Amino acid sequence: MMKVAILGHGTVGSGVAEVLTSHAESIARRAKEEIEIQYILDIRDFPDSPLHDRFTKDFNQILQDPEVKIVAEVMGGLHPAFDYVKACLENGKSVVTSNKELVAAKGAELLKIAQKNNLNFLFEASVGGGIPIIRPISQCLAANEVLEIAGILNGTTNFILTKMIRESMTFEDALALAQKLGYAERNPAADIEGHDACRKICILASLAFGKHVYPEWVHTEGITKVTLSDVEYADAWGGVIKLIGSVKHTDNGKIMIMVAPMMIPRESQLANVDDVFNGILVRGDETGDVVFYGKGAGKLPTASAVVADIIDCVKHVKARKYLYWDDATADYVEDYRKNETLMYVRATAEDCDALFDKADALFGGVSRLSRFDAPENELAFYTEKLMSEAVIEEKLQQLQQMGAQVDMTIRIADL
Ligand code: HSE
Repeated sequence: MMKVAILGHGTVGSGVAEVLTSHAESIARRAKEEIEIQYILDIRDFPDSPLHDRFTKDFNQILQDPEVKIVAEVMGGLHPAFDYVKACLENGKSVVTSNKELVAAKGAELLKIAQKNNLNFLFEASVGGGIPIIRPISQCLAANEVLEIAGILNGTTNFILTKMIRESMTFEDALALAQKLGYAERNPAADIEGHDACRKICILASLAFGKHVYPEWVHTEGITKVTLSDVEYADAWGGVIKLIGSVKHTDNGKIMIMVAPMMIPRESQLANVDDVFNGILVRGDETGDVVFYGKGAGKLPTASAVVADIIDCVKHVKARKYLYWDDATADYVEDYRKNETLMYVRATAEDCDALFDKADALFGGVSRLSRFDAPENELAFYTEKLMSEAVIEEKLQQLQQMGAQVDMTIRIADL
């Protein structure tokens, strides 16, 4: 009998308790041992829970119980989650977590402590909820050099963009609906400003390329400035706008990583990843593109990934799963302004035809986009030649000096 503790009884925590209880028999068969929930840590009381006798408010009770060998941290946030996880790993307990904020900020440090103590620190649920992605990258695709990862990593923003694309709903209305349906984080800024997706691409980048990438190093843009006009122009271009987290190797041993709304062609495997679903494309040198798709959030999908990690820990209680990356310094991340891209531009000008001609000359070729009922002073176009973002920015400044106002730019991604 393996005894486990669950830190937190919120959405994911209660899901973990539910899955461990409802699937006890099949889980025991797979783990080759029964798993018993010894403690659930929460500051609240749950007198009506069938597990009411397992609740504790005292973390030290869990820490000091030598029978508890595996702890699931599903509280979220950095504090006190980090202190608790660190204490567990320093006291002989393997830890599994769904906490992307924790892994993105402290992954290298916690993996090192786990390694030193011959314990496991697993976090399949931290990216893509119920979608298997950490194990596939670290094990199934291990023979490949990962060339690039690009993903729709945040369900809330994908839901909002889908509503804008399919139902012409405004950003504000779609956000309100996402909140009503319980998809958004407590503070929706983490979703709509791209921070949640940023944490997830940091975890994938760290895993795929072997060095820790901290969220503050990553150029991150959210979807708050995307309008229905941009959605219509994207359609005219032949694609859709998605919030993409992407990372690839550069020739100088660094990585190019960013989170931003991007236009992707309708034929892209990510273009039809809609609603709260996530989709992650891993480009391997041997496999080519492999795409992972499924529910990236929600109680039971996320709990399923946490419980799978618990089972893995039970099976490897005396052996370490090889999951590790080194720490790194900020110069490991390339300046995003060196990123070469095509760019969609929406601008306001008194004379759009004249502005178009100027843009065409400046960028060495641009294509104009149109949409039904566009105001006369609105011009939208996309650049036709790959250029670094620094050069594009410079040329856009020149356009502004000629009297135009640049209202929106969106990168066009080759996905
Ligand atoms: N708020 C997150 C999302 C939850 O919408 O994807 C899962 O990490």
